[in-house]
Amino acid sequence: MTRNTVDKAVEILNSHGVVGMPTETVYGLAARIDSLQGLNLIFRTKQRPFFDPLIVHVCSIEQAQSLVLQWPPVAQILAERFWPGPLTMVLTKNTQVNDLITSGLMTVGIRMPKHPLALELIEKTGVPLAAPSANRFGHTSPTSAAHVQSEFATPLFVVDGGVCEAGIESTIVGIEIEKDFCHLAILRLGVISQSEIESCLQENGISHKWKQKVDRIQAPGQMKHHYMPSVPLVIYQNGMGKNQILKEVNARLSHLPDEVEGIKMVKPDRVEHFEILQLSKEPGEAARMLYSELRRLGEKPGVQMLAFEWDKEIFGSYLQPVESWAPVMDRLIKAASLRL
Ligand code: TXA
Ligand code: MG
Repeated sequence: MTRNTVDKAVEILNSHGVVGMPTETVYGLAARIDSLQGLNLIFRTKQRPFFDPLIVHVCSIEQAQSLVLQWPPVAQILAERFWPGPLTMVLTKNTQVNDLITSGLMTVGIRMPKHPLALELIEKTGVPLAAPSANRFGHTSPTSAAHVQSEFATPLFVVDGGVCEAGIESTIVGIEIEKDFCHLAILRLGVISQSEIESCLQENGISHKWKQKVDRIQAPGQMKHHYMPSVPLVIYQNGMGKNQILKEVNARLSHLPDEVEGIKMVKPDRVEHFEILQLSKEPGEAARMLYSELRRLGEKPGVQMLAFEWDKEIFGSYLQPVESWAPVMDRLIKAASLRL
């Protein structure tokens, strides 16, 4: 059964189409990296701006090496430790990688996904696959085949690989080598933490420095708003009562801009009731359920708003969440229209 599904997907990719691809993080919308038509279709299907670069998915370290000018020891060590898995490495690209994929940057984001069907799909296609998350630009990422199928107006072929194991997108690490010295930066938080990467590098004796502040050129596509559900999500501090939440929301919603960085804000006239988003107390499980809960609650008939209680004791402050919660909190803050 799956054999046929993957073969059909390969056929579509080879005829310059796009397909839904399961990965362990979220579902991707994949095209061959050497198909301009396929790459353009990704942007069109997602309504994604061209300044937001795509991640290239590979099925072997050799394939990753074929995309870059230089494969430094640090990349080899991180690949051996974390691949296949939720780590994307940003390295200097070579001419194999089209500017459309990288938004004209000199660098390319590469990762080897852990899902067996993704690896099979890439291997059978024979070239790496560019794939952003399979959702409309700015919206909640999909963690099941059904999410992908319901996301776009036009029907899309999706390889059904079940529910995603991690539930949020990969960690993105930028790698720059200057005179044999390695500078690293976390460009997007994800399942793999900076501490895990740090211990791996220490164990292997790789001298390096972390850049704390990353500019917009190095981390494009890091919008203020992203992952947004179909109704507004509001984050409130623990202890706030229902009436207080509604009062503040109704006073502030109408003052929101209509659009932020190309993403339309949903602004109901007046909110009278809302659904509470409840996540597991364990960060891994919370990540796994986050996007499907945002979708499920946002699609309930009559729902006007979702609310999430930010418990400082557990999560830390908005500006500095505790490390284990930081990736989930990053997604929640970007998905939220308001923080009270
Ligand atoms: O887990 C994931 O990474 C998923 C699955 C499908 O692999 N993919 C994913 O793709 O999250 P997407 O398009 O939703 O997010 C890709 C982000 C871009 O928005 C950008 O921030 C960053 O990756 N990125 C890609 N290439 C980059 C580059 N050359 N330099 C800096 N950031 C880059
Ligand atoms: Mg995305």
